[in-house]
Amino acid sequence: MAASRVSELYRTAFVTGASTGLGRAFAEMLLADGVRVWGTSRDPARLAPLAQAYPETFHAVACDLADGPAAAAAFLAAADRAGGFELVVNNAGYGVFAEFAGADFPVWQEQIEVMLVATARLSHAALRAHLARGRGALVNISSLAAEFPLPFQSAYNVVKAGLSALNESLLLETAGTAVIVLDVRPGDYRTDFEGSVLRPQTPPTPRMERAWRAFDRMMRSGPPPAHAAACLRRALLRQRRGTLRIGRFFQAVLAPFLARFGSLDLKRRVQARYFDVG
Ligand SMILES: NC(=O)c1ccc[n+]([C@@H]2O[C@H](COP(=O)([O-])OP(=O)(O)OC[C@H]3O[C@@H](n4cnc5c(N)ncnc54)[C@H](OP(=O)(O)O)[C@@H]3O)[C@@H](O)[C@H]2O)c1
Repeated sequence: MAASRVSELYRTAFVTGASTGLGRAFAEMLLADGVRVWGTSRDPARLAPLAQAYPETFHAVACDLADGPAAAAAFLAAADRAGGFELVVNNAGYGVFAEFAGADFPVWQEQIEVMLVATARLSHAALRAHLARGRGALVNISSLAAEFPLPFQSAYNVVKAGLSALNESLLLETAGTAVIVLDVRPGDYRTDFEGSVLRPQTPPTPRMERAWRAFDRMMRSGPPPAHAAACLRRALLRQRRGTLRIGRFFQAVLAPFLARFGSLDLKRRVQARYFDVG
């Protein structure tokens, strides 16, 4: 019989970036379903609302992905206290909006280190434990940007395409095991993401301004994070593995479907029109 609560499948979970946005919604969904959750923030004070709402089952963890080895150590220490994590959700991330050559190279490199390399490091630790235990789930939050790159967010596009490629590799490696790997690709959701995007290039060019306005419009009109959490809950209960595209019908269903039939050049032109940079 199919499970009706996530805690019937996974008793413990580790969720990065649980202070706000999608990560907080994922943590709340899991806690409401009876899962014991260890959630991270760079500043654990930001996790107080979850700790107050779920004093018995929520545990705050300080974790900054800017220091990959320290983040992995925080994960392993929390796993020790939890008796292992049966579900790991790598969600934390941020945006940088600048031309590739318009901002200093270290800004670009840091985003790759923080969001791709550090997330891979946590995935490595999580998968090792899942495989040793013979079961468990690894959920990596990628983005539809892996398929439809965002203008002036080149490192972000590389991170998400790289993360989805890592997930594909792990799906091949875990085939035939009871370990689940889920590559989640959200479209635009109404979170704090846009507010925390770094914009190191000043002044922005007129094309950048137009792309930002389109990005801003899309983010503000996206569904709320609870929608993403409900999609993830359904996928977990169905023990789904593979790719999960979520968000508005146009972004998550129609655009990927149509992109299969058009040329890459057509896709680029539509994308440029969408962001008003054509
Ligand atoms: N919203 C969307 O439309 C959308 C679409 C596709 C994919 N995504 C992906 O979904 C994930 C969550 O995004 P969101 O929209 O929920 O953004 P958000 O509301 O800005 O939340 C981002 C979370 O990541 C954490 N974080 C940021 N930088 C970090 C770092 N260096 N080390 C550790 N934690 C860090 C933040 O924690 P603290 O600030 O408390 O440390 C926060 O909890 C990201 O990976 C994003 O790329 C979002």
